[in-house]
Amino acid sequence: MTMSSLEALKKELVETVKAANDIPALEEVRVTALGKKGKVTDMMKTLGGLDPEQRKQMGQALNQLKDEISAAIEARAALLKRAALEERLKTEKIDMTLSPRPRPQGTIHPISRTIGELTDIFADMGFSVAEGPEIENDFNNFTALNFPPGHPARQMHDTFYLPDVAGQTGDQAKRLLRTHTSTVQVHVMQTQKPPIRVIIPGRTYRSDYDMTHTPMFHQLEGLLIDKTAHMGHLKGCLIEFCKRFFEVDELPTRFRPSFFPFTEPSAEMDIGCSRAGGELKIGAGNDWLEILGCGMVHPQVLKNCGINPDEYQGFAFGMGIERIAMLKYGIPDLRTFFESDLRWLKHYGFGPTGEA
Ligand code: DAH
Repeated sequence: MTMSSLEALKKELVETVKAANDIPALEEVRVTALGKKGKVTDMMKTLGGLDPEQRKQMGQALNQLKDEISAAIEARAALLKRAALEERLKTEKIDMTLSPRPRPQGTIHPISRTIGELTDIFADMGFSVAEGPEIENDFNNFTALNFPPGHPARQMHDTFYLPDVAGQTGDQAKRLLRTHTSTVQVHVMQTQKPPIRVIIPGRTYRSDYDMTHTPMFHQLEGLLIDKTAHMGHLKGCLIEFCKRFFEVDELPTRFRPSFFPFTEPSAEMDIGCSRAGGELKIGAGNDWLEILGCGMVHPQVLKNCGINPDEYQGFAFGMGIERIAMLKYGIPDLRTFFESDLRWLKHYGFGPTGEA
């Protein structure tokens, strides 16, 4: 062993380290150079045959070679590891520029949207929401609301009757699908103590079908009972409601005398509109549009529901939700509300945050 053979070995080993292209190959280089039977180790074993001076010199040189080769292997290993990681990142990468999931295709039905708007407006005036059953009895739908038996107003409701409750007779046994949400007035007055301020949105049913009638439709009922409410409050409340709902500040309104068995006096409310050029526009104009029925709750109705008419009075109103939605959103045919035609829903529906 000479210094020059050591030099040659160093060169050779450095080359093999450089040539190792992956971690297993490099490990093999490490074993053949520095392992128990490796080349450097073999040389260490020959040190014993040298004279002391030479042994010291060659020993130091060999140790240095060992350190240098170890360092070279480590540096190479670090390089190979980084390259391997980079290769992995390249193949496993996630493309962050991919478009997000498509927006849900569903839309909010104009009826749901309109009920939400009505609730908001009346909530601001102190009304809370009440609900009641869609399957009713004759008492709640008619008798309690002052429709006497055989009264012609009953026929006007085109009622869907259900089989009577077995073993019972009278107007509690006669079951039907409620023809108006006024039935819930009865439930509310029977269970709540005045003052009462509720709105009642819900499904109603009548046997009728054409451009402006469907067998199922929605109504919004309103009921206010206290000791002093009068027709002026009724008018103020409904005028304010119409202005907000139709988003028209200067809205002409009028109240025409009408008849409902459960209110006295009764009125129908009209709002101003123009039909110039065949296009309906709500607001000032020379035409009127009927929008809802209303009146002061009939004393007999209060009595029928357990409220003393000498102490309490109030007003009520009712409107068709489809009708006011059609007017606000320009929907021409009532029947289309319930056809579940996706193109219609996409056109007239609202997005999840309420956008049209
Ligand atoms: N229930 C009536 C209908 O279906 C609407 C109505 C009119 C409700 C006047 C009321 C009211 O509360 O006061 O035609």
